[in-house]
Amino acid sequence: MVVAQVILKTKRLILRSPRLSDTDDITEGIGNFEVCKNMSGVPYPYKKKDAKEWLNKVIKKSKMKVRESYVFMIELKKEKKVIGCLDLNKINLTDLTCQTGSWINLKYHQKGYITEAKIAVNEFAFNKLKMRKMETTVFRINKASNATQKSVGYRYEGCKIKSVVSKSTGKIYDVNMYGLLKEDWKKRLPKLRAHLEKKIKKLSINKLSAN
Ligand SMILES: CC(C)(COP(=O)(O)OP(=O)(O)OC[C@H]1O[C@@H](n2cnc3c(N)ncnc32)[C@H](O)[C@@H]1OP(=O)(O)O)[C@@H](O)C(=O)NCCC(=O)NCCS
Repeated sequence: MVVAQVILKTKRLILRSPRLSDTDDITEGIGNFEVCKNMSGVPYPYKKKDAKEWLNKVIKKSKMKVRESYVFMIELKKEKKVIGCLDLNKINLTDLTCQTGSWINLKYHQKGYITEAKIAVNEFAFNKLKMRKMETTVFRINKASNATQKSVGYRYEGCKIKSVVSKSTGKIYDVNMYGLLKEDWKKRLPKLRAHLEKKIKKLSINKLSAN
């Protein structure tokens, strides 16, 4: 099943289609070296024109009748700011598989935002798009992203040695491959939801006691 425009809402986030007005937030988020160094195809320095070019491309793709990808901008409700992005790409309607990639603005790391976004987007991929398996690749040295995939329930499937050159660093990286089967996701989901709830509560208690 192919769904046209999609908006997903969670406790703290709105996951929606990209807009040209997202240019500044994307430039700020991806333009940080600590973020873009982990993504193979992103140049550094990353300028407004790079964000605009990318936005024009994905907005055009999002209007196609047969979708091969969905790009979700991660908007933080309380700030009305785009703090990241999560996509489904290479949607294969024969194998019922797709790939996924993501980033979060450095200022918002380790607050459970990608976990929250992934819960909504994975549910969309498995329930609405009827995917059977989701796949993702991560640089072996990327501690945060490897931890994220494991926490979400992905299985490690192997490592491609010296496989990718990062545009921003010019270095060659080993790449870990992960797969998430629908049945593994359904098993993991209740625990992940409870884990995220607990994390959000803890974060708000810490914030209150810091004020
Ligand atoms: C990977 C990334 C998207 C994670 O986003 P996030 O919102 O900070 O992640 P969350 O807060 O939801 O945490 C997800 C899990 O990863 C773990 N984690 C996150 N950052 C971590 C870090 N720096 N070191 C170790 N573990 C980390 C968390 O502890 C959590 O697991 P747990 O809940 O079981 O403890 C973010 O670090 C990022 O944007 N990195 C740069 C870009 C990138 O690497 N993109 C992925 C390319 S493959």
